This record gives sequence, structure tokens and C-alpha cells, in this order.
Amino acid sequence: MTTFGKEMYHLNCVDSTNNFAANLISDQICQSGAVILADVQTAGKGQMGNTWESAESKNLLCSLVWKPDNLSVDDQFKLSWMISLALHKLLLRFGIDAQVKWPNDIYVGSQKIAGMLIENQLEGSRISWVIAGIGLNVNQQQFDSATAVSMHHFLGIDVQVKTVLSELLDLMNGYVNNWESLNTQFKAEVEEILFQKGMEANYRDEHGEFVGVIQGITNEGKLAVKVMDELRTYNLKEIQFC
Ligand code: BTN
Repeated sequence: MTTFGKEMYHLNCVDSTNNFAANLISDQICQSGAVILADVQTAGKGQMGNTWESAESKNLLCSLVWKPDNLSVDDQFKLSWMISLALHKLLLRFGIDAQVKWPNDIYVGSQKIAGMLIENQLEGSRISWVIAGIGLNVNQQQFDSATAVSMHHFLGIDVQVKTVLSELLDLMNGYVNNWESLNTQFKAEVEEILFQKGMEANYRDEHGEFVGVIQGITNEGKLAVKVMDELRTYNLKEIQFC
């Protein structure tokens, strides 16, 4: 059984909590369930080589380390579904109704409230360690990006970052310790809260901009988009939201 937070590293400042977790694993001093929490990161990593900016002590910046028993690399996208669902449920506990913008952004309306960077370590075709880096905007009120938003914006008050973390760990414990029975439902549950699902919207692929309607996600984790009468499926980086 994994208990997130039993082993907790609360750092004032670190380059990236994901890097810190990777070092713990390579030093062989990491247990499944370790949580690295930082007040500020000097080189916070986002998806696709981007940086993740966050004002000091305002937001949740953490990495959760999990050693799954038997998880195939073919199922790795289920990890982002699980974390998306945990973040969705966490925000609902605070009365905030978020959606999952494929592949792994958490949006409220048209603004991003959280993101994740999952870095897996492999042994052959199995995932030996999962490092789930999560950035959730909690109390920051001003962002450089117009599309970023925090919980404060919806609640009108500050929430303690530690309170938010403890809710997240509670949800994540439930998910990883019941993985076998729950993972088969992840895709359907994410599809219920999928950003722009069923709506006509503009997208761009290698051929240019087009109007399409998101239908859902395939079993392989691709985005399924209907364009006129054709159903197209897209991998990461093959489609952009306009
Ligand atoms: C994204 O949406 O681009 C992913 C953002 C992930 C940010 C978190 S903050 C904690 C953890 N440590 C990192 O360096 N990145 C992740």
C-alpha cells in the first residue's frame, strides 16, 4: 500500500520538485508515496520544455512519487487521467467545477488553473517509478499569462496550500491503492469533463486551421475530433486548440 505524504520533503526553494524526486530515486532513498513540496522553484518545468512560473508560497508545487506494482508503459496515459480526475475532484471539494483540456491541463472556463508534468522511469516495458509533478494555482492573483487563474479568483479568499495538498493526497491515496478496480473507468470519467467536448471549435493541425467537434479520447489516449463527416485522431503535439 502506498501512503502519499508519509515521507514528506518540504523545501523552501528547489530547482524543480520533479528533479529533486528523480535524485531521491537515483540515490535509492525514495519510497513509494514520497511527496516533495516546494514554496518556490527556480527552474520549474512545464510540458513540452516550457517553464512553470509561480510566485513564492502562493501555489501548490509538488511531486508525488509512486512505485506501481505492475504498470505497462502502454498504459502511461492512464496516469494523467488519474491525476486529472483527482484535481477535478479536489477543486469540486472547494466548489470549483474544472474541466480537463486534453491532454493534461486543468481548466476552469477558458483559463488554466493547474498542470501536470509526469516523468516516468522505465524498466523494460514496465513503469518502475512515476514522478507526478503538479502545479495548482491556489492564491496567486496576478499572472503574466492572461489564461492563468487560481482558486482565489473563484473563492474570493486565500486557502492554505497545505490544506489543498492534504485533500489531493487523500484523493491520490484512494486512486493508487484501488488502481486495479478504478483504472478501467478513468477514460469515461475524463470524457465527462472534457473541455470543448461536443462543441464546434477551431483547431489547427499540420494542414492548417479547421472547425471540429471533440468526440472523446481513444483507448490509446489520442484526441478524437469530428471534422465534417470524418473522425480524426490526434497524438500529442499533432493538434492545437486555437
Ligand atoms: C504544465 O502544464 O506545463 C505542467 C506544469 C507542471 C508544473 C509542476 S510544479 C511542480 C512540478 N515540478 C516541476 O518542475 N514541474 C511540476
